[in-house]
Amino acid sequence: MMKMLTYSNNDQMPALGLGTWKSDPGVVKKAIIEAIAIGYLHIDCAAIYGNENEIGEALEECMNKGMVKREELWITSKLWNDSHKQGEVQPALEKTLADLRLDYLDLYLMHWPVAFKHGTSFPENSEGYLSLDEAPLAETWQAMQEVQKKGLAKHIGTSNFSINKLEQLIALGGQIPEMNQVELHPYLQQQGLIDFCHQNDIHVTAYSPLGSMDRPQVFKKEGEPVPLENGTIKSIAEAKGISPAQVLLAWPLHRKISVIPKSTNPKRLRENFEAHAIALSDDEMHAIASLDQHERIIDGSFFVAEDKGYTVANLWDE
Ligand SMILES: NC(=O)c1ccc[n+]([C@@H]2O[C@H](COP(=O)([O-])OP(=O)(O)OC[C@H]3O[C@@H](n4cnc5c(N)ncnc54)[C@H](OP(=O)(O)O)[C@@H]3O)[C@@H](O)[C@H]2O)c1
Repeated sequence: MMKMLTYSNNDQMPALGLGTWKSDPGVVKKAIIEAIAIGYLHIDCAAIYGNENEIGEALEECMNKGMVKREELWITSKLWNDSHKQGEVQPALEKTLADLRLDYLDLYLMHWPVAFKHGTSFPENSEGYLSLDEAPLAETWQAMQEVQKKGLAKHIGTSNFSINKLEQLIALGGQIPEMNQVELHPYLQQQGLIDFCHQNDIHVTAYSPLGSMDRPQVFKKEGEPVPLENGTIKSIAEAKGISPAQVLLAWPLHRKISVIPKSTNPKRLRENFEAHAIALSDDEMHAIASLDQHERIIDGSFFVAEDKGYTVANLWDE
């Protein structure tokens, strides 16, 4: 049985979903149709991935063919950093909905606690940034609550938020973030952040659970460890007759965390989906827990603009 995460209004999100970052427009439509045929119901999207239009074509085709109904799907998308100002959030969400051919999202996330000038995808220098005084997180969160009230997004949350930044949103006294999507794999386990989220009724989704090997060069550092090649992960996989990827995906599910591996390959789509049914023993969970190195793949160094207050230390509050 697919594990489900339950929201405060009893809506249920399938814990294992499909990632779509770097799923090229030319291949993503086929991959989504294949994934839905396999049984995936939860798709993780974002405006900045540049492929929501093709994902929308696939969703429309699957619904028209009767492969799946809208209410069975869980579709997440994310607000890009250039639309944090009041008045920019709803149009950004409406563009995403038009691309995805949907009239509501199940979950809408603030992609990063970093703001850019409107129309800037990736700033070339600090000129393209807005400081958090110019575009306060509280202002964006207020606008997120408004689109939720209008029914354009059933649930709202954050991504790449630290405990400190989540506390700032909780202190506003409105809707608390219902989800925080963060990087999680055995080399970056973030137990403190997860405990904080779970104590405050914030669900967690693990991104880059396999180590994001296809990430662009700017995100790569010399000598980074690769979770899929870890000896402990490989030996657990071998002993159980499963793949290392399946170990990496079963692990967050056991921590009551959602996980969204990306693939566009039919064989790996199926292999990853089947991880939802894999049980890990306490000994296996402990062995994986010992692998933590607090090592980020997506380390935020690409969003440094010191004169606008953005440093790696400020981003993660550590
Ligand atoms: N909120 C954020 O800021 C943020 C940041 C990063 C990611 N995300 C989300 O999280 C999703 C997943 O993260 P990710 O795309 O960075 O990386 P990932 O899912 O950890 O890894 C994707 C890579 O693993 C390969 N792969 C997939 N299944 C495999 C298997 N069974 N065995 C071996 N290799 C396999 C994929 O290749 P093939 O496609 O060829 O199979 C691809 O190269 C993203 O797609 C995105 O939706 C969100």
